[in-house]
Amino acid sequence: MTAKKEQIYEGKAKKVYATDDPALYIVSYKDDATAFNGQKKGQIADKGVVNNAMSNLLFRLIEGKGVPTHFVEQLSDRDTVVKAVKILPLEVIIRNVAAGSFSQRYGVAEGTALLRPTLEFSYKDDDLGDPLINDDHALALGFVTEAQLETVRSYAHKVNEILKAFFLEKGLKLIDFKIEFGVTPDGTVLLADEISPDTCRLWDVETNEKMDKDRFRRDLGHVEETYQEVLQRVTKE
Ligand code: TMP
Repeated sequence: MTAKKEQIYEGKAKKVYATDDPALYIVSYKDDATAFNGQKKGQIADKGVVNNAMSNLLFRLIEGKGVPTHFVEQLSDRDTVVKAVKILPLEVIIRNVAAGSFSQRYGVAEGTALLRPTLEFSYKDDDLGDPLINDDHALALGFVTEAQLETVRSYAHKVNEILKAFFLEKGLKLIDFKIEFGVTPDGTVLLADEISPDTCRLWDVETNEKMDKDRFRRDLGHVEETYQEVLQRVTKE
């Protein structure tokens, strides 16, 4: 069995370990929660367990529909073997409905449907507060090649279509989400990181109740219960 060797990275929600195989890492999901670029800190009990299970289920779904992912094998409640990649320094956000920073920046009420899925890039840099950037910025700064950018855009829109349909069957509206991509040593672009209530906005289809990390960000209460409820919904046949 693949086993953890030295820790090579610790992020806000996960740790990444090397393994005996240079082509594989192990990610370990934590319960730590942050918001507003780390200014608000807390814990969400068993968030790591929920996000590990949910990400792996969604990676399998997405892989089955033709978008390659880093997922290899779940080892335990919190630990998963993934393909070793170099993460592109871009947060790729797709929005179906206005919310969060989009609503603030453009003065559009939360809940306003967008006329088309809208893709945004942020430059992944905590010291700079993950600033919004465009395609030209990403190319001029050498963050991606033109071919990678085209792949990332097309995969991101495909992931949106897959996730929107899947969540709708579970009674959840996919408002927006953030994904990250990585590149293997042979140059293959893969969907990486996680897909969870930390990285998606999900609203109940009937009530529009927020079923995601906004409950923590905005102190809405029932944070742990909501994560468990989302996991139950997505795992129910
Ligand atoms: P935003 O409206 O705050 O820009 O967030 C858009 C989406 O991206 C939302 O689903 C939450 C997710 N997100 C992350 O996963 N990580 C982050 O650091 C931020 C700011 C947002």
